[in-house]
Amino acid sequence: MNPEPELKLFVAHPYKGPTPLQRLLFSRPWERATRNFVRQLRRRTRSGSEYNIIGLCSTGHGASIALVSSRYGVRALNLERFAGRKNAIWMAREEYRELRESEDPTPAGIRFCLKDSQLRLPPMLVFEDTWEAVFAALVRGLPLTPRDIDFVVGSESHFGINKGWLGGHLSLYFPRAIVRTDLEHHAVHRYQAFLGSGFSEAAVLTADASGEPLPRLDGKRISMTFANAVDSSFSVFAEYTSPESSPGRVYNSFNNFLGFEPGEEGKTMGLSSYGRDDCYHHLRPLLTLNDDGSFDFPSEEVLKAALHDYGVKRRRHKMQPSEKHEDVACAAQLLLDDMMRNAVAALERGTTSKNLCLAGGTALNSVTNERVFRGSRFENIYIMPNAGDLGHSLGCAFYAERVFAGGPPRRLCDSDGLGPPYSETDVEEAIQKRGLASIRVQDPAACAAQLIAQGQIIGWFQGGSEFGPRSLGFRSILTDCRDPGMKDRLNDRVKHREGFRPFAPAVLEEKVGEYFDLRGHSPFMLRVVDVQPSKQSVIPSVTHVDGTARVQTVTEKNNPLFYRLIAAFDSLTGVPVVLNTSFNVAGRPIVETPLDAIDCFLSTEIDSLVLHDFLLTKEAVA
Ligand SMILES: [Fe+2]
Repeated sequence: MNPEPELKLFVAHPYKGPTPLQRLLFSRPWERATRNFVRQLRRRTRSGSEYNIIGLCSTGHGASIALVSSRYGVRALNLERFAGRKNAIWMAREEYRELRESEDPTPAGIRFCLKDSQLRLPPMLVFEDTWEAVFAALVRGLPLTPRDIDFVVGSESHFGINKGWLGGHLSLYFPRAIVRTDLEHHAVHRYQAFLGSGFSEAAVLTADASGEPLPRLDGKRISMTFANAVDSSFSVFAEYTSPESSPGRVYNSFNNFLGFEPGEEGKTMGLSSYGRDDCYHHLRPLLTLNDDGSFDFPSEEVLKAALHDYGVKRRRHKMQPSEKHEDVACAAQLLLDDMMRNAVAALERGTTSKNLCLAGGTALNSVTNERVFRGSRFENIYIMPNAGDLGHSLGCAFYAERVFAGGPPRRLCDSDGLGPPYSETDVEEAIQKRGLASIRVQDPAACAAQLIAQGQIIGWFQGGSEFGPRSLGFRSILTDCRDPGMKDRLNDRVKHREGFRPFAPAVLEEKVGEYFDLRGHSPFMLRVVDVQPSKQSVIPSVTHVDGTARVQTVTEKNNPLFYRLIAAFDSLTGVPVVLNTSFNVAGRPIVETPLDAIDCFLSTEIDSLVLHDFLLTKEAVA
């Protein structure tokens, strides 16, 4: 247990140190608070007691909560799943009251969203009053109350939400806990990138649009960092700031031009496969790559003007993308690839490690992830399943566990079913509540495989929900990837997504090489690779227009039931691959509870639902 190397992050910037006045104003109280925090935690750890840690995050993209316990392991929950609305965020009652009582006639929630021009989607505001219900959902089935929580750790938010809420109220909710809510945004990205990787050392790259304004950098926001991590210590050797070197800002500008909302960057990524590289060559002179891994790219206005020169106008929401829009998406992807390749090349020069860990919103771009990894000398790559800001809660909790509580290294590289599991009684009650008939099946995996082989679209609900944005076999809609018409059928009947977006395959890991050109593993669907040319016609509904797929590798260890399902499908059809998409409909979060799953099943044309070992069919409903 040695927190000192990391504490350097809090008190001095490696390159641009604070001015003497800033040091006086900001560093000393912070330093003092840190020392006190460490002292208290050490005292508690020395006493030999077990620990239960809560990690929290709330940003404009959403909110999440995590539990890391010496006795009960790891759990994590996205607030949007609990609230049933996308992008749900925490907010302090006081902050809301302040907004509501202002003279401005605009509704408080809307005004809150307008406070930051980057945030255009009105998120659902969840007030602190809901805290007890969310905590109860997280610790479902565990003998834990708020009094049992020892540490509560949160990251700074982009918007200052946490300061009001966390600072003032967490100690009331957790009367015995030591509370700390001032961890830096990109420091937490590093924790989430590395502390669950299972590596003893690695090179860590964090990249996003930006973190919070930092007093130590004259209010500038960090957008990229390079670090070496060993055990639980991080040595940061480069930090770059927004707007100059912000890969997330550049990609967001394109996403905005293409008429997609913040948080829909995956649509730009999907569309990019259709485009030609003409637009990229037109824009490439705007990008300057620097030897130190940073880059320069002009403002959104300059980009818009350059795109108008290219002969394309901003796409209006819901308008069918034109060929020119496809070219713009292709340019966005290729420019991001250039920026991140250059960053990884600089990271390589600053490390001797063969292991690469990525985090930050940019690490959710599965196409770039694969391209930078392939072009590097790194031999292993780890990207945690919730690599964006919503994974901060777990990053914070891992950090407190490793650095302060002296807990063991965690490996989060096998499975992402971190949500609270539901009991058989919960499932039975949900089925009864909707008055449905169900059949108890002996082997749900074999039953589901049979239905998929018959061409059915099924809902699959097992264990705890995925913490990250991808469904990975816990809350999934599954169907037959061999049917070339399945993509359209799935969209018409259930998902109602844009036709240009691909669906992803889940494959038995030992057979991945037969179907995909993948080096290593891809358990969290965060790498896009080529489908082997000879297999593209075998699995057409998961092969994208450019012959690629965002693949998930499944092992018996990381999800035994899902593994058995795919293996049973393989026995029936000779193909060890199923189409796996998220258990939700467009615009809604992934289902969380058994009742959510049943309601989604009833409101769509999903043919059957396998809910633990209960089978629900539409015939039985009719
Ligand atoms: Fe971030």
